[in-house]
Amino acid sequence: EKGNHRHFMAKEIYEQPEVVGHTLTQYLDMANGKVRLPFGDQIDWKNLSRLTISACGTSYYAGLIAKYWFEKLARLPVEIDVASEFRYREAPLPDQGLALFVSQSGETADTLAGLRYARQNGQVILSVVNVPTSTIARESDAVAQTLAGPEIGVASTKAFVCQLAVFASLALAAARARGTLSAQDEVSHVQNLISLPGLMARALELEPEIEKLARELSKAKDVLYLGRGTSFPLALEGALKLKEISYIHAEGYPAGELKHGPIALIDEDMPVIVVAPHDALFEKTASNMQEVAARGGRIILVTDAKGAAECGIEPEATIVMPDMDPTFAPIVYALPIQMIAYQTAVFMGKDVDQPRNLAKSVTVE
Ligand code: F6R
Repeated sequence: EKGNHRHFMAKEIYEQPEVVGHTLTQYLDMANGKVRLPFGDQIDWKNLSRLTISACGTSYYAGLIAKYWFEKLARLPVEIDVASEFRYREAPLPDQGLALFVSQSGETADTLAGLRYARQNGQVILSVVNVPTSTIARESDAVAQTLAGPEIGVASTKAFVCQLAVFASLALAAARARGTLSAQDEVSHVQNLISLPGLMARALELEPEIEKLARELSKAKDVLYLGRGTSFPLALEGALKLKEISYIHAEGYPAGELKHGPIALIDEDMPVIVVAPHDALFEKTASNMQEVAARGGRIILVTDAKGAAECGIEPEATIVMPDMDPTFAPIVYALPIQMIAYQTAVFMGKDVDQPRNLAKSVTVE
């Protein structure tokens, strides 16, 4: 039931600190500051030449963020595809390779077909799923479950952040096995993960400020989302959320691609939402924002206090997030992204839990 919330989507957004905390308890030895996977040493991370990930929609975006983590922390190359391409692409797969499938429902037709292709090609199959009795879970060699609980709203929210929490843990486990993570760094990453639910709770407190953006956003015909590094998949996710529940056209772009085309779209009618925690790439994104501002673009900036102070422009609005270590920040920055879409769709009177033309579980191609 919805409790005090108007929609399942709102309830599920508000459940996120709790379900991420719950999921992390299954993947971390919190007392000793170590990662501890529920399926033990079943995966031979050390000898992998690469990891192949596929999924659809929001689950695919979680996989895209995971790619940055596996590559940076574990030095493990990742190939990632949307499942509808992967299943038909006849991709060569490494001997004894590991193929990873991400699915909230565990029933998505294309993702399941990709799994069966990987199986036929001799891959070990790992899945990150929310429904442990699902077909994808049953056909996997190892299952990394997300403990988001049932997700009713058609737009995925809490399953996404739980997928990210699982991926953060898997990337750290892979890094430890591959010798690219010191014991000291493992402890500090685990401490950062443990602090996430508290930071997410603080991000939820920003909702009244986000609600104020809804009126302006509801007038837009198009919205551009920009980000770099792990904020790039969040830009894609922000655009998808807005499209599917408000029916406003939106695009997510890597900020560095701006001058390769989309900058031609910038005018005072198109809001540009920039996701930019003050991380190692912040200055690069700030210069992209300045390019947008110089062309009369209206910027909504999601950043932290330092980013707000150093962006070099006056955005139309700034959502100031709590300070945090940048590595796993997407797990917290996902929340304002979801709330922007939710508040805009509610302001426009849309049916956010049952958007037109969409099904919760896509069991046909
Ligand atoms: C977007 C959304 C969809 C799903 C996609 C995959 O909000 O919910 O894009 O993420 O249909 O579904 P699962 O994860 O069940 O395979």
